[in-house]
Amino acid sequence: MTILLLGSGGREHAFAWKMIQSPLCTQLFVAPGNAGTDAIATNVNISPTDFQAIKKLVLEENIEMVVVGPEDPLVQGIFDFFKNDNQLQSIPVIGPSKVGAQLEGSKEFAKEFMVKHRVPTAAYDSFTKETVEKGCRFLETLQPPYVLKADGLAAGKGVLILQNLKEAQQELRNMLVGAKFGQASSKVVIEEFLDGIELSCFVLTDGKNYKILPTAKDYKRIGEGDTGLNTGGMGAISPVPFADAVLMEKIEKRIVIPTVEGLQKDAIPYQGFIFIGLINVKGEPIVIEYNVRMGDPETEVVIPRLKNDLVELFIAVANQKLDEVELEIDSRSATTVMVVSGGYPEDYEKGKEISGIENIEDSIVFHAGTKTENGKVVSNGGRVLAVTSYGKDFQEAIKKSYQNINQLHFDTMYYRKDIGFDLLG
Ligand code: AMP
Ligand code: GLY
Repeated sequence: MTILLLGSGGREHAFAWKMIQSPLCTQLFVAPGNAGTDAIATNVNISPTDFQAIKKLVLEENIEMVVVGPEDPLVQGIFDFFKNDNQLQSIPVIGPSKVGAQLEGSKEFAKEFMVKHRVPTAAYDSFTKETVEKGCRFLETLQPPYVLKADGLAAGKGVLILQNLKEAQQELRNMLVGAKFGQASSKVVIEEFLDGIELSCFVLTDGKNYKILPTAKDYKRIGEGDTGLNTGGMGAISPVPFADAVLMEKIEKRIVIPTVEGLQKDAIPYQGFIFIGLINVKGEPIVIEYNVRMGDPETEVVIPRLKNDLVELFIAVANQKLDEVELEIDSRSATTVMVVSGGYPEDYEKGKEISGIENIEDSIVFHAGTKTENGKVVSNGGRVLAVTSYGKDFQEAIKKSYQNINQLHFDTMYYRKDIGFDLLG
Protein backbone atom coordinates (compact mmCIF):
# COMPACT_ATOMS: atom_id res chain seq x y z
CA MET A 1 0.00 0.00 0.00
CA THR A 2 1.04 3.59 -0.63
CA ILE A 3 1.34 5.58 2.59
CA LEU A 4 1.84 9.26 3.38
CA LEU A 5 3.56 10.24 6.62
CA LEU A 6 3.29 13.85 7.81
CA GLY A 7 6.12 15.53 9.73
CA SER A 8 9.86 16.12 9.64
CA GLY A 9 11.43 15.18 12.96
CA GLY A 10 13.25 12.27 14.53
CA ARG A 11 9.86 10.78 15.34
CA GLU A 12 8.97 10.69 11.66
CA HIS A 13 12.31 9.19 10.63
CA ALA A 14 11.73 6.45 13.23
CA PHE A 15 8.20 5.82 11.91
CA ALA A 16 9.47 5.75 8.31
CA TRP A 17 12.37 3.42 9.23
CA LYS A 18 9.87 1.02 10.79
CA MET A 19 7.14 1.30 8.14
CA ILE A 20 9.43 0.56 5.20
CA GLN A 21 10.39 -2.72 6.92
CA SER A 22 6.80 -3.84 6.34
CA PRO A 23 6.04 -5.89 3.22
CA LEU A 24 2.66 -4.12 3.22
CA CYS A 25 4.27 -0.75 2.51
CA THR A 26 5.02 -0.56 -1.20
CA GLN A 27 5.65 3.18 -1.33
CA LEU A 28 6.16 5.78 1.38
CA PHE A 29 5.86 9.54 0.94
CA VAL A 30 6.94 11.90 3.73
CA ALA A 31 5.81 15.53 3.87
CA PRO A 32 8.05 17.38 4.30
CA GLY A 33 10.54 14.88 5.82
CA ASN A 34 14.26 15.36 6.44
CA ALA A 35 17.54 13.99 5.05
CA GLY A 36 16.94 10.71 6.91
CA THR A 37 13.54 10.09 5.33
CA ASP A 38 14.87 11.34 1.97
CA ALA A 39 17.28 8.40 1.95
CA ILE A 40 14.61 5.73 2.52
CA ALA A 41 11.34 7.22 1.20
CA THR A 42 10.09 10.00 -1.09
CA ASN A 43 10.06 13.45 0.49
CA VAL A 44 7.49 15.93 -0.79
CA ASN A 45 7.81 19.57 0.05
CA ILE A 46 4.34 20.09 1.54
CA SER A 47 3.51 21.48 4.97
CA PRO A 48 1.59 19.06 7.24
CA THR A 49 -1.04 21.77 7.78
CA ASP A 50 -1.62 22.56 4.08
CA PHE A 51 -4.67 20.30 3.74
CA GLN A 52 -5.46 21.28 0.14
CA ALA A 53 -1.93 20.41 -1.01
CA ILE A 54 -2.15 17.13 0.92
CA LYS A 55 -5.45 16.31 -0.79
CA LYS A 56 -3.93 16.94 -4.21
CA LEU A 57 -0.96 14.68 -3.42
CA VAL A 58 -3.17 11.91 -2.00
CA LEU A 59 -5.33 11.87 -5.13
CA GLU A 60 -2.43 12.13 -7.58
CA GLU A 61 -0.38 9.40 -5.96
CA ASN A 62 -3.27 7.10 -4.96
CA ILE A 63 -2.25 7.24 -1.33
CA GLU A 64 -4.14 4.69 0.76
CA MET A 65 -3.31 5.74 4.32
CA VAL A 66 -2.12 8.91 6.08
CA VAL A 67 -0.08 8.71 9.29
CA VAL A 68 0.15 11.98 11.21
CA GLY A 69 3.33 12.64 13.23
CA PRO A 70 2.94 16.10 14.86
CA GLU A 71 0.00 17.64 16.74
CA ASP A 72 -0.64 20.73 14.60
CA PRO A 73 -2.50 19.05 11.71
CA LEU A 74 -4.52 17.02 14.22
CA VAL A 75 -5.53 20.06 16.26
CA GLN A 76 -6.42 21.81 12.98
CA GLY A 77 -8.68 18.90 12.06
CA ILE A 78 -6.99 16.80 9.37
CA PHE A 79 -8.99 13.72 10.42
CA ASP A 80 -12.30 15.60 9.95
CA PHE A 81 -11.04 17.15 6.70
CA PHE A 82 -10.63 13.63 5.25
CA LYS A 83 -13.91 12.33 6.69
CA ASN A 84 -15.89 15.29 5.29
CA ASP A 85 -14.43 15.08 1.78
CA ASN A 86 -16.15 12.75 -0.73
CA GLN A 87 -12.91 11.87 -2.45
CA LEU A 88 -10.91 11.30 0.74
CA GLN A 89 -13.34 9.80 3.22
CA SER A 90 -12.38 6.17 2.61
CA ILE A 91 -8.69 6.84 3.25
CA PRO A 92 -7.75 6.17 6.87
CA VAL A 93 -5.97 8.88 8.84
CA ILE A 94 -4.00 7.59 11.81
CA GLY A 95 -4.68 10.25 14.43
CA PRO A 96 -7.64 11.56 16.42
CA SER A 97 -10.53 13.74 15.26
CA LYS A 98 -10.35 17.49 15.83
CA VAL A 99 -12.32 17.22 19.06
CA GLY A 100 -10.11 14.33 20.24
CA ALA A 101 -7.03 16.43 19.51
CA GLN A 102 -8.34 18.97 22.03
CA LEU A 103 -6.88 16.65 24.68
CA GLU A 104 -3.59 18.27 23.66
CA GLY A 105 -4.89 21.46 22.04
CA SER A 106 -6.62 22.75 25.18
CA LYS A 107 -5.35 22.13 28.71
CA GLU A 108 -8.78 23.09 30.04
CA PHE A 109 -10.54 20.56 27.79
CA ALA A 110 -8.08 17.88 28.96
CA LYS A 111 -8.62 18.75 32.65
CA GLU A 112 -12.42 18.69 32.24
CA PHE A 113 -12.19 15.32 30.47
CA MET A 114 -10.05 13.88 33.28
CA VAL A 115 -12.34 15.13 36.02
CA LYS A 116 -15.43 13.85 34.18
CA HIS A 117 -13.94 10.39 33.65
CA ARG A 118 -12.20 10.23 37.03
CA VAL A 119 -8.68 10.06 35.68
CA PRO A 120 -6.32 11.11 38.50
CA THR A 121 -4.82 14.55 37.83
CA ALA A 122 -3.63 17.57 39.82
CA ALA A 123 -6.31 19.85 41.31
CA TYR A 124 -6.82 22.95 39.17
CA ASP A 125 -8.89 25.94 38.19
CA SER A 126 -8.82 27.99 34.99
CA PHE A 127 -8.95 31.73 34.41
CA THR A 128 -9.30 34.31 31.64
CA LYS A 129 -8.51 38.04 31.28
CA GLU A 130 -11.85 38.82 32.92
CA THR A 131 -11.11 36.67 35.98
CA VAL A 132 -7.40 37.48 36.37
CA GLU A 133 -7.80 38.96 39.87
CA LYS A 134 -9.75 35.90 40.99
CA GLY A 135 -6.82 33.85 39.66
CA CYS A 136 -4.39 35.90 41.74
CA ARG A 137 -6.47 35.23 44.84
CA PHE A 138 -6.66 31.50 43.96
CA LEU A 139 -2.84 31.43 43.89
CA GLU A 140 -2.86 32.78 47.49
CA THR A 141 -4.74 29.65 48.60
CA LEU A 142 -2.05 27.31 47.15
CA GLN A 143 1.36 26.27 48.42
CA PRO A 144 4.43 26.99 46.26
CA PRO A 145 5.68 26.07 43.74
CA TYR A 146 2.91 27.45 41.52
CA VAL A 147 2.14 25.80 38.16
CA LEU A 148 0.69 28.04 35.41
CA LYS A 149 -0.25 26.50 32.06
CA ALA A 150 -1.27 28.35 28.92
CA ASP A 151 -4.46 26.65 27.68
CA GLY A 152 -3.49 26.36 24.00
CA LEU A 153 -0.54 25.01 22.01
CA ALA A 154 2.60 26.99 22.86
CA ALA A 155 5.34 24.83 21.29
CA GLY A 156 6.14 23.20 24.63
CA LYS A 157 6.87 26.55 26.31
CA GLY A 158 3.49 27.31 27.86
CA VAL A 159 4.09 25.88 31.35
CA LEU A 160 5.64 28.05 34.07
CA ILE A 161 6.65 26.74 37.50
CA LEU A 162 7.32 29.52 40.00
CA GLN A 163 8.49 29.51 43.61
CA ASN A 164 7.36 32.98 44.58
CA LEU A 165 3.70 34.08 44.97
CA LYS A 166 4.21 37.66 43.74
CA GLU A 167 6.11 36.41 40.71
CA ALA A 168 3.38 33.84 39.97
CA GLN A 169 0.70 36.55 40.17
CA GLN A 170 2.74 38.78 37.86
CA GLU A 171 3.22 35.94 35.34
CA LEU A 172 -0.51 35.16 35.45
CA ARG A 173 -1.18 38.79 34.48
CA ASN A 174 1.52 38.61 31.77
CA MET A 175 -0.12 35.53 30.30
CA LEU A 176 -3.75 36.64 30.48
CA VAL A 177 -3.53 40.40 30.03
CA GLY A 178 -0.11 40.73 28.36
CA ALA A 179 -0.73 37.77 25.97
CA LYS A 180 2.71 36.33 26.85
CA PHE A 181 2.00 33.24 24.71
CA GLY A 182 -0.39 35.03 22.35
CA GLN A 183 -3.79 33.43 21.85
CA ALA A 184 -2.57 30.25 23.62
CA SER A 185 -2.55 32.09 26.98
CA SER A 186 -5.94 33.79 26.65
CA LYS A 187 -6.94 31.14 29.16
CA VAL A 188 -4.63 29.79 31.89
CA VAL A 189 -4.91 26.65 34.00
CA ILE A 190 -3.46 26.96 37.51
CA GLU A 191 -2.59 23.58 38.90
CA GLU A 192 -1.44 21.94 42.12
CA PHE A 193 2.29 21.10 41.99
CA LEU A 194 3.03 17.37 41.94
CA ASP A 195 6.28 16.21 43.46
CA GLY A 196 7.61 13.02 41.92
CA ILE A 197 9.40 11.47 38.96
CA GLU A 198 8.02 11.74 35.43
CA LEU A 199 7.41 9.00 32.90
CA SER A 200 5.37 8.61 29.73
CA CYS A 201 2.91 5.92 28.77
CA PHE A 202 2.01 5.47 25.10
CA VAL A 203 -1.26 3.98 23.97
CA LEU A 204 -2.39 3.06 20.48
CA THR A 205 -6.18 2.96 20.21
CA ASP A 206 -8.69 2.23 17.46
CA GLY A 207 -11.40 3.99 19.47
CA LYS A 208 -12.64 0.72 21.00
CA ASN A 209 -9.59 -1.38 21.78
CA TYR A 210 -6.17 -0.28 22.91
CA LYS A 211 -2.58 -1.49 23.21
CA ILE A 212 -0.09 -0.12 25.71
CA LEU A 213 3.27 0.45 24.04
CA PRO A 214 6.59 0.44 25.94
CA THR A 215 7.05 3.21 28.52
CA ALA A 216 9.71 5.87 28.09
CA LYS A 217 11.34 8.66 30.03
CA ASP A 218 12.35 11.88 28.36
CA TYR A 219 14.95 14.46 29.44
CA LYS A 220 13.45 17.86 28.64
CA ARG A 221 15.99 20.36 29.98
CA ILE A 222 18.92 21.57 27.89
CA GLY A 223 21.49 21.28 30.70
CA GLU A 224 23.00 18.39 32.59
CA GLY A 225 21.37 17.54 35.92
CA ASP A 226 18.02 18.67 34.44
CA THR A 227 18.91 22.37 34.50
CA GLY A 228 18.31 25.29 32.13
CA LEU A 229 15.62 25.87 29.54
CA ASN A 230 13.01 23.35 28.46
CA THR A 231 13.54 21.77 25.05
CA GLY A 232 11.52 19.35 22.94
CA GLY A 233 13.56 16.58 24.60
CA MET A 234 17.29 15.83 24.78
CA GLY A 235 17.21 12.07 25.15
CA ALA A 236 15.02 9.16 26.15
CA ILE A 237 15.11 5.71 27.70
CA SER A 238 12.77 2.76 27.29
CA PRO A 239 11.61 0.92 29.32
CA VAL A 240 11.46 3.09 32.43
CA PRO A 241 13.17 0.97 35.12
CA PHE A 242 10.80 1.99 37.92
CA ALA A 243 7.65 1.29 35.84
CA ASP A 244 7.19 -2.17 37.34
CA ALA A 245 4.14 -4.43 36.98
CA VAL A 246 2.44 -2.85 40.02
CA LEU A 247 2.76 0.69 38.68
CA MET A 248 1.75 -0.39 35.15
CA GLU A 249 -1.37 -2.06 36.48
CA LYS A 250 -2.37 1.14 38.27
CA ILE A 251 -1.69 3.13 35.09
CA GLU A 252 -3.82 0.78 33.00
CA LYS A 253 -6.74 0.51 35.44
CA ARG A 254 -6.90 4.08 36.68
CA ILE A 255 -5.77 5.97 33.59
CA VAL A 256 -5.70 4.09 30.27
CA ILE A 257 -9.06 2.31 30.59
CA PRO A 258 -11.01 5.37 31.82
CA THR A 259 -9.39 7.45 29.07
CA VAL A 260 -10.31 5.09 26.22
CA GLU A 261 -13.79 4.50 27.70
CA GLY A 262 -14.19 8.25 28.20
CA LEU A 263 -13.52 8.86 24.52
CA GLN A 264 -16.21 6.31 23.64
CA LYS A 265 -18.74 7.67 26.15
CA ASP A 266 -18.21 11.18 24.81
CA ALA A 267 -18.47 9.87 21.21
CA ILE A 268 -15.04 11.28 20.32
CA PRO A 269 -13.59 9.52 17.25
CA TYR A 270 -10.02 8.54 18.10
CA GLN A 271 -7.86 6.22 16.02
CA GLY A 272 -4.28 6.96 16.88
CA PHE A 273 -1.74 7.46 19.62
CA ILE A 274 -2.37 8.81 23.10
CA PHE A 275 0.77 9.95 24.88
CA ILE A 276 0.08 10.22 28.60
CA GLY A 277 2.53 12.33 30.60
CA LEU A 278 2.58 11.08 34.17
CA ILE A 279 4.17 11.89 37.49
CA ASN A 280 4.76 8.99 39.85
CA VAL A 281 3.99 10.48 43.25
CA LYS A 282 5.12 7.90 45.83
CA GLY A 283 3.89 4.99 43.68
CA GLU A 284 0.66 6.70 42.59
CA PRO A 285 0.51 7.67 38.88
CA ILE A 286 -1.07 11.07 38.21
CA VAL A 287 -1.63 12.58 34.76
CA ILE A 288 0.01 15.91 33.98
CA GLU A 289 -0.86 16.03 30.32
CA TYR A 290 -2.21 14.23 27.30
CA ASN A 291 -0.64 14.52 23.88
CA VAL A 292 -2.43 13.18 20.85
CA ARG A 293 0.65 11.88 19.02
CA MET A 294 3.84 10.04 19.84
CA GLY A 295 6.63 11.87 21.69
CA ASP A 296 9.87 13.00 20.15
CA PRO A 297 12.48 11.66 21.11
CA GLU A 298 10.41 8.95 22.86
CA THR A 299 9.42 7.44 19.49
CA GLU A 300 13.10 6.86 18.76
CA VAL A 301 13.26 4.39 21.69
CA VAL A 302 9.69 3.02 21.70
CA ILE A 303 9.42 2.11 18.00
CA PRO A 304 12.79 0.28 17.82
CA ARG A 305 11.55 -1.97 20.65
CA LEU A 306 8.36 -2.87 18.83
CA LYS A 307 8.72 -6.17 16.98
CA ASN A 308 5.32 -6.02 15.26
CA ASP A 309 4.78 -4.81 11.73
CA LEU A 310 3.80 -1.16 12.30
CA VAL A 311 1.77 -0.94 9.08
CA GLU A 312 -0.20 -4.01 10.14
CA LEU A 313 -0.91 -2.28 13.46
CA PHE A 314 -2.09 0.88 11.67
CA ILE A 315 -4.39 -1.19 9.43
CA ALA A 316 -5.82 -2.83 12.58
CA VAL A 317 -6.40 0.66 14.02
CA ALA A 318 -8.19 1.78 10.87
CA ASN A 319 -10.41 -1.35 10.88
CA GLN A 320 -11.02 -1.21 14.66
CA LYS A 321 -9.48 -4.66 14.99
CA LEU A 322 -6.67 -3.91 17.40
CA ASP A 323 -8.06 -6.63 19.69
CA GLU A 324 -6.91 -9.20 17.12
CA VAL A 325 -3.25 -8.17 17.41
CA GLU A 326 -0.70 -9.22 20.04
CA LEU A 327 2.12 -6.78 20.73
CA GLU A 328 5.62 -8.19 20.71
CA ILE A 329 8.22 -6.10 22.50
CA ASP A 330 12.00 -6.45 22.40
CA SER A 331 13.17 -7.16 25.96
CA ARG A 332 16.33 -5.09 25.47
CA SER A 333 16.53 -1.48 26.63
CA ALA A 334 16.78 1.30 24.08
CA THR A 335 18.20 4.75 24.68
CA THR A 336 18.53 7.76 22.45
CA VAL A 337 20.65 10.89 22.78
CA MET A 338 19.71 14.03 20.88
CA VAL A 339 22.51 15.88 19.19
CA VAL A 340 21.55 19.54 18.87
CA SER A 341 22.77 22.82 17.39
CA GLY A 342 24.68 25.08 19.80
CA GLY A 343 22.34 27.77 21.17
CA TYR A 344 19.20 25.59 21.00
CA PRO A 345 16.48 26.02 22.36
CA GLU A 346 17.20 29.71 21.77
CA ASP A 347 18.83 31.06 18.58
CA TYR A 348 21.07 28.69 16.65
CA GLU A 349 22.56 28.45 13.18
CA LYS A 350 21.52 26.05 10.44
CA GLY A 351 23.27 24.72 7.35
CA LYS A 352 26.24 23.08 9.14
CA GLU A 353 27.66 20.12 7.27
CA ILE A 354 27.38 16.89 9.27
CA SER A 355 30.03 14.18 8.98
CA GLY A 356 30.53 10.73 10.45
CA ILE A 357 26.99 9.32 10.21
CA GLU A 358 28.15 6.62 7.78
CA ASN A 359 30.77 5.35 10.28
CA ILE A 360 28.18 4.40 12.89
CA GLU A 361 27.35 0.71 12.83
CA ASP A 362 25.87 -0.49 16.10
CA SER A 363 23.52 2.44 16.76
CA ILE A 364 20.64 3.76 14.67
CA VAL A 365 21.01 7.39 13.66
CA PHE A 366 17.59 8.99 13.30
CA HIS A 367 17.60 12.35 11.57
CA ALA A 368 15.61 15.24 13.06
CA GLY A 369 16.53 18.75 11.83
CA THR A 370 18.54 17.81 8.75
CA LYS A 371 18.24 18.25 5.01
CA THR A 372 20.11 17.12 1.93
CA GLU A 373 21.94 19.93 0.13
CA ASN A 374 24.09 19.23 -2.95
CA GLY A 375 24.31 15.60 -1.93
CA LYS A 376 25.47 16.46 1.60
CA VAL A 377 23.61 16.24 4.90
CA VAL A 378 23.40 19.61 6.68
CA SER A 379 21.72 20.75 9.89
CA ASN A 380 18.30 22.32 9.45
CA GLY A 381 16.92 22.67 12.99
CA GLY A 382 17.69 22.82 16.70
CA ARG A 383 17.49 19.10 17.31
CA VAL A 384 19.60 17.56 14.57
CA LEU A 385 20.13 13.81 15.11
CA ALA A 386 18.99 11.17 17.61
CA VAL A 387 21.43 8.33 18.23
CA THR A 388 19.56 5.22 19.40
CA SER A 389 21.17 2.08 20.81
CA TYR A 390 20.07 -1.20 22.35
CA GLY A 391 21.58 -2.85 25.43
CA LYS A 392 20.81 -5.47 28.05
CA ASP A 393 20.04 -2.51 30.31
CA PHE A 394 19.89 1.24 29.71
CA GLN A 395 23.43 1.73 31.03
CA GLU A 396 24.84 -0.54 28.33
CA ALA A 397 22.68 1.08 25.64
CA ILE A 398 23.56 4.63 26.62
CA LYS A 399 27.28 3.82 26.61
CA LYS A 400 26.95 2.70 23.00
CA SER A 401 25.12 5.90 22.01
CA TYR A 402 27.87 8.05 23.57
CA GLN A 403 30.65 6.02 21.92
CA ASN A 404 29.01 6.48 18.54
CA ILE A 405 28.26 10.18 19.01
CA ASN A 406 32.06 10.60 19.20
CA GLN A 407 32.15 9.80 15.48
CA LEU A 408 29.74 12.62 14.60
CA HIS A 409 30.89 16.13 13.81
CA PHE A 410 29.33 19.45 12.94
CA ASP A 411 30.09 22.99 13.95
CA THR A 412 28.49 23.96 17.34
CA MET A 413 27.22 20.40 18.01
CA TYR A 414 26.04 19.81 21.63
CA TYR A 415 24.43 16.95 23.56
CA ARG A 416 23.74 16.07 27.18
CA LYS A 417 26.22 13.59 28.61
CA ASP A 418 24.03 12.47 31.52
CA ILE A 419 20.91 10.90 29.98
CA GLY A 420 19.58 8.40 32.56
CA PHE A 421 21.52 10.00 35.44
CA ASP A 422 18.50 10.03 37.76
CA LEU A 423 17.77 6.32 37.25
CA LEU A 424 21.08 4.97 38.51
CA GLY A 425 21.19 3.09 41.82
P1 AMP B 1 3.23 19.87 30.31
O1 AMP B 1 3.36 20.70 29.06
O2 AMP B 1 1.88 19.89 30.92
O3 AMP B 1 3.83 18.50 30.16
O4 AMP B 1 4.23 20.52 31.37
C1 AMP B 1 5.62 20.68 31.08
C2 AMP B 1 6.42 20.21 32.26
O5 AMP B 1 6.05 20.94 33.43
C3 AMP B 1 6.18 18.77 32.61
O6 AMP B 1 6.98 17.92 31.86
C4 AMP B 1 6.53 18.75 34.08
O7 AMP B 1 7.94 18.67 34.25
C5 AMP B 1 6.09 20.08 34.56
N1 AMP B 1 4.75 20.02 35.17
C6 AMP B 1 3.56 20.16 34.54
N2 AMP B 1 2.54 20.09 35.41
C7 AMP B 1 3.08 19.88 36.62
C8 AMP B 1 2.54 19.72 37.94
N3 AMP B 1 1.22 19.79 38.16
N4 AMP B 1 3.39 19.53 38.94
C9 AMP B 1 4.73 19.49 38.72
N5 AMP B 1 5.30 19.64 37.51
C10 AMP B 1 4.49 19.85 36.47
N1 GLY C 1 9.38 14.82 24.17
C1 GLY C 1 8.17 15.42 24.55
C2 GLY C 1 7.18 15.58 23.49
O1 GLY C 1 7.26 15.03 22.42
O2 GLY C 1 6.21 16.28 23.75
